[in-house]
Amino acid sequence: MAIRPRRSVLYMPGSNARALEKARELPADGVILDLEDSVAPDSKTEARARVAEVVKAGGFGPREVVIRINGLDTPWGAEDLEAAAAAAPDAILLPKVERVEQLETVGRRLEELGVPAQTRVWAMIETPLAILNIHAIAAAARNPQTRLSVFVLGTNDLAKETRAALIPGRAPMLAWLSMCVAAARVYGLDVLDGVWNQFKDMDGFQAECAQGVEFGMDGKTVIHPSQIEPCNAAFSPPPAEVERARGIIAAFERPENAGKGVITIDGRMVELLHAEMARRTVALADAIAARG
Ligand code: COA
Ligand code: MG
Repeated sequence: MAIRPRRSVLYMPGSNARALEKARELPADGVILDLEDSVAPDSKTEARARVAEVVKAGGFGPREVVIRINGLDTPWGAEDLEAAAAAAPDAILLPKVERVEQLETVGRRLEELGVPAQTRVWAMIETPLAILNIHAIAAAARNPQTRLSVFVLGTNDLAKETRAALIPGRAPMLAWLSMCVAAARVYGLDVLDGVWNQFKDMDGFQAECAQGVEFGMDGKTVIHPSQIEPCNAAFSPPPAEVERARGIIAAFERPENAGKGVITIDGRMVELLHAEMARRTVALADAIAARG
């Protein structure tokens, strides 16, 4: 079971040279070099060239490198896609995905441009229509040409478009967030939670990380370096859980339990499905440990 940890993925404006410089050192599992909303119209062309250059230069170690392009319905999208394709990052992040055709169009274009299959496509889920179409969007992953691998939740845009409040606990969004997790799981996608804007409020941030873990998300997008370490900690299986998982795997491997579907460990019912969950927990912990 090969798992790629995606606990923390840091956005940085493609127009911010100082931030881009740090992309190779920060302990995030991934970085999103942004050409979209964090870059003003007058800086778009310059940011595109800079981001392409930074990605081509490489040196990111284990960090996943993602370029967020502008939508293909904007004046910059087509050229962003070409520049990103030539730079061949780990993934290209498409904003405001809400229809399957958007993914099909990008997939076809990447093939035309001869981009290696290792370059995946990640989709921002950030509009009301995306939430209503989430099953169809996730199902696009069955078509390998789309390269779809990860959902990134855009909670700021969702709040804007729906007029739902962005409040601690996120009650107005719970249904939307959990639908995204369900759809992602059906088609084997990862899901990354939205950002916490008040980056000086660490308690609020930690509470939202914990909530993302409870939802079953794979990680969270972050906006500031100070959010990386707490985010990594929140989305790493706790040592006690890893130990319990190893215990479950070992128990099912004992000769006296061969062929059994359910056993008792420390007074708790443990079924084969728990052994499967335990193997995933251990694989994730091992992948994180290998990262150092
Ligand atoms: N990526 C990399 N480095 C970052 C960073 C980021 N997202 N945000 C801040 N830093 C660096 C700064 O360059 C600074 O480094 P330095 O002291 O070596 O110069 C250090 O971290 C401290 O920055 P700070 O002064 O606390 O933040 P700021 O006021 O300069 O910036 C934001 C605050 C929110 C504007 C900035 O964090 C940011 O641009 N975040 C990403 C926004 C984004 O991409 N949004 C789009 C998707 S939601
Ligand atoms: Mg957005």
